[in-house]
Amino acid sequence: MATTTNDRPAGESRPVAPADDTNGLALLKLDSLSKVFVTDEVETHALSGVHLEIARGEYVAISGPSGCGKSTLLSILGLLDTPTGGTYQLDGVSVQSLAFAERARIRNRQIGFIFQSFNLIGDLTVYENVELPLTYRGMGAAERRKRTGEALERVSMAHRSRHLPAQLSGGQQQRVAVARALAGDPIILLADEPTGNLDSSNGDAVMALLQDLHAMGSTICMVTHDDRFARHAERTIHLFDGRVVDERRER
Ligand SMILES: Nc1ncnc2c1ncn2[C@@H]1O[C@H](COP(=O)(O)OP(=O)(O)O)[C@@H](O)[C@H]1O
Ligand SMILES: [Mg+2]
Repeated sequence: MATTTNDRPAGESRPVAPADDTNGLALLKLDSLSKVFVTDEVETHALSGVHLEIARGEYVAISGPSGCGKSTLLSILGLLDTPTGGTYQLDGVSVQSLAFAERARIRNRQIGFIFQSFNLIGDLTVYENVELPLTYRGMGAAERRKRTGEALERVSMAHRSRHLPAQLSGGQQQRVAVARALAGDPIILLADEPTGNLDSSNGDAVMALLQDLHAMGSTICMVTHDDRFARHAERTIHLFDGRVVDERRER
């Protein structure tokens, strides 16, 4: 793009802003992404030639049968794992070949995870679980308190702040996990079968919560093998044998 630096108003001395990522560019973009696991003599092609773009504010579901590569894809999107081929741009940054520490830093600041098994720390309170990732990133106490309180309010769990995870229902634990994911104000929420360990009414409640967050502007990518849940998203990507075989827009 041919932009010049001398067309700014007089007196304006800030450097030119980086390319506006809302300007037709995806928040997240995968190109020809592949992942091969090698264990003993066995090679598993978990992902092969995946192209995927997610725009800011979108709600995308990834669906497909067990073993088709959904969790592998989400782990790569969340910088928990690295691809063996292809490229991944997250918010304009090529992240597929970053060093471990830099990936961890971006993950901690920009990605919010929600897992099937909640992954709360059993001997920390609800409050401490939500606060912990903020502590890891070196945030000051006042800011941590504000964000933790707000996130727990948002999922209607502030009244359980001093409880331990084991004292909560599965649905409540998942809401706390959502609060933990939100507190860092991530650019994207990644959810891997978030209702997989919940009965249907708690599952529906978590789905409604994700829907609310999306309505308030969150970008969400959710893995599910259940088409009923996939329909909550605006767009569903179907994986089979590590490849995108179909894509459907819900509305
Ligand atoms: N760490 C790993 N080592 C070896 N193979 C793996 C590993 N993780 C996943 N796989 C294999 O990759 C394929 C995709 O797995 P996964 O992404 O977990 O599928 P899904 O989440 O859709 O059920 C499967 O064949 C699985 O056995
Ligand atoms: Mg999985």
